[in-house]
Amino acid sequence: MPFNKITSADVTFFKTILEEKYVLADEENLDRCASDQTEDLHYLPEIVLQPNTTEEISSIMKYCNEHNIPVTPRGAGTGLSGGALPVHGGVSLDMKRLNRILHVDKRNFQVTTEPGVITQELQEHLKAEGLFYPPDPASKGSCFIGGNVSENSGGPRAVKYGVVKDYVLNIEMVLPNGEIMWTGANVLKNATGYNITQLVVGSEGTLGVITKIVLRLIPAVKHDLLLLVPFRSATEACEAVNAIFLGGYTPSALEFMERDALEWSMRYVNSTGIDLPDDIAAHLLIEVDGNHMEELYRDAEAISAIVQPYDIGEILFADSHEQKQMLWTLRRKVGEAVKSNSIYKEEDTVVPRAELPELLRIIKDLGREYGFQSVCYGHAGDGNLHVNIVKGNMSDEAWNTKLTLGIRRLFKEVVRMGGTISGEHGIGLVQKEYMDIAFPEVQLQLMRQIKQVFDPKGILNPGKILMNA
Ligand code: LAC
Ligand code: ZN
Repeated sequence: MPFNKITSADVTFFKTILEEKYVLADEENLDRCASDQTEDLHYLPEIVLQPNTTEEISSIMKYCNEHNIPVTPRGAGTGLSGGALPVHGGVSLDMKRLNRILHVDKRNFQVTTEPGVITQELQEHLKAEGLFYPPDPASKGSCFIGGNVSENSGGPRAVKYGVVKDYVLNIEMVLPNGEIMWTGANVLKNATGYNITQLVVGSEGTLGVITKIVLRLIPAVKHDLLLLVPFRSATEACEAVNAIFLGGYTPSALEFMERDALEWSMRYVNSTGIDLPDDIAAHLLIEVDGNHMEELYRDAEAISAIVQPYDIGEILFADSHEQKQMLWTLRRKVGEAVKSNSIYKEEDTVVPRAELPELLRIIKDLGREYGFQSVCYGHAGDGNLHVNIVKGNMSDEAWNTKLTLGIRRLFKEVVRMGGTISGEHGIGLVQKEYMDIAFPEVQLQLMRQIKQVFDPKGILNPGKILMNA
């Protein structure tokens, strides 16, 4: 069904729901909501609405559903697959005013929050109460918890603590027709009916608008230690990842960075904090955490012994707050650093962990075959490698056609290895053309039908996840 353009009558209606200053059509706001962190993409909405309550969102959705107006929910705009881009125009539903932490239930280790709370602020608020919400995407200082739930984000700590889905107990959401519902219950076990909560987690704002989230928490962990291990061979760095687990250790982070990733990040943040000899090809950043410092020192030593037989340089032990901060800043800024260097496409490949060395080899082989340069880094402990393909001086023709074939080849290899095409960034707009590699038609058809059940008119975040959606 074709969508309708927003008319002055629609704007008049929106102003009966929201104060005028929250119904925005100025260039600056339209432009802000036209992009996220995905490549250099830009799709203007026709209007930006900034609701403050579930009820306001319900009224907006009911109206837009009746009038065939597309609505694209938007968090902080840090997404990497284009999930928040209003590709069909219409309403950009800016969630930033729903930014209240509603209830910390310390007795039950739970928090109820609105979606527009910055993830790091939520974590710090909880930490002050002795509580821990582990998922920490690289953008934690600016991303919203609602976006994290929508994308089922991960981050470095996932290797020990799991991803967002492992913490979401219950969600309040507004269906595209305006109905308000809770998906589950605030309990740790739930075998009651279909698991709509987990269907909504990672559904990229296509099934409903998330308005409240109940998260499970764990007790705060007291200490951590960080090691930076330089390797002369990137493949060996990937091999060492598995050796650490086989040796009996589960680090709280196990990150891989190719030399370029670290070098570009150091340049980007103007850091000279790390010595980077010419023969170093990659690093592992390894964190261990726990409540007893002596134990952590022992674990760090044992992990050092495990990586020692590889061809490594001098291990950097970071135990001061400043050093740890510096290393984590460098790691978290890799994505931004690559972006500042060149237009790039970021693939979010994930394979069973032991296949990581093979994945890296394939990426480099394909790069040679298809003429692309890649900078790889990511959550090695999860088998999740971010492959940043930089445009550099590739022609537009090669970038738009040949490269797509190379990416298809890469994804086919990933699936052959038992992996899949996105570990934590989602499918959104930019990966949907590859969904046929990840799933057979029967499964794609089921997904189309699920979308149809939630959103029969297809007005909510259209153009995402599935082709022709
Ligand atoms: C990271 C983001 C890009 O790991 O997922 O830095
Ligand atoms: Zn990541």
